[in-house]
Amino acid sequence: MERSLVIIKPDGAVRRTVGARVIEALHGLGLRVRAFREMRVSQELAEKHYAVHKGKPFFPWLVQFITSGRVLVLVFEGENAIQRIRDALGPTFVQKAPPDTLRGRYGIWGGINIAHASDSPETAATEIDLWSREGNVRESDGAEKEMLTYIERYTAEASDHTSEIREVVVHAIDSDDVSSSVLESLEVLIAKDARDVEDDEVEKLAEAIFALVKEEVSKSG
Ligand code: RTP
Ligand code: MG
Repeated sequence: MERSLVIIKPDGAVRRTVGARVIEALHGLGLRVRAFREMRVSQELAEKHYAVHKGKPFFPWLVQFITSGRVLVLVFEGENAIQRIRDALGPTFVQKAPPDTLRGRYGIWGGINIAHASDSPETAATEIDLWSREGNVRESDGAEKEMLTYIERYTAEASDHTSEIREVVVHAIDSDDVSSSVLESLEVLIAKDARDVEDDEVEKLAEAIFALVKEEVSKSG
């Protein structure tokens, strides 16, 4: 039996229906849920979790993104769980992810890709240890039921503006548009999919997406 730590990143946890569907799909692989926790990630924990990427150009953005809004942290368990979850998610960059993968279906752009998943048994062990000590992500018999309740609550009145959000991002990049209207459009669309979250989570998630747009435009210019 293998375990894998999955984090539904803010683009999935703030956009409730999207996150619920991603969890539902992973659970549908026949995996058990051992731990389930909704939380905000501190700067410190984000930096530790992504320590392997420290020093890379995208590291500060990655920390900004993962701390922008709430996340859902889960420990899945099952045979070959690590590879099966990564296959279901698809490639890292959303543009490269086929439409039948979760990142291809629900991701927004680039590394705004819905979920993190452990990439080896060693990484999984390290990550589960880190998140249990510093993120209070604990195994519990109720985890499976909590997850099912979450899915039920947030798929009942579905709201998923993924394609509209993508259109805003792609259009902004194609037309070198880094005006504040892009940020405003992102906020409006994210707010439509957000439920039971703080206003600052919608704003900060939109800012993290907008930061990627600006970076892409500056690269092309
Ligand atoms: P994850 O760790 O989140 O499961 O994703 P992964 O294994 O597919 O990708 P990894 O290489 O570990 O990168 C971690 C996260 O960093 C962001 N990223 N941005 N701009 C860039 O070049 C870049 N590269 C990576 C993505 O959010 C990626 O998931
Ligand atoms: Mg990784």
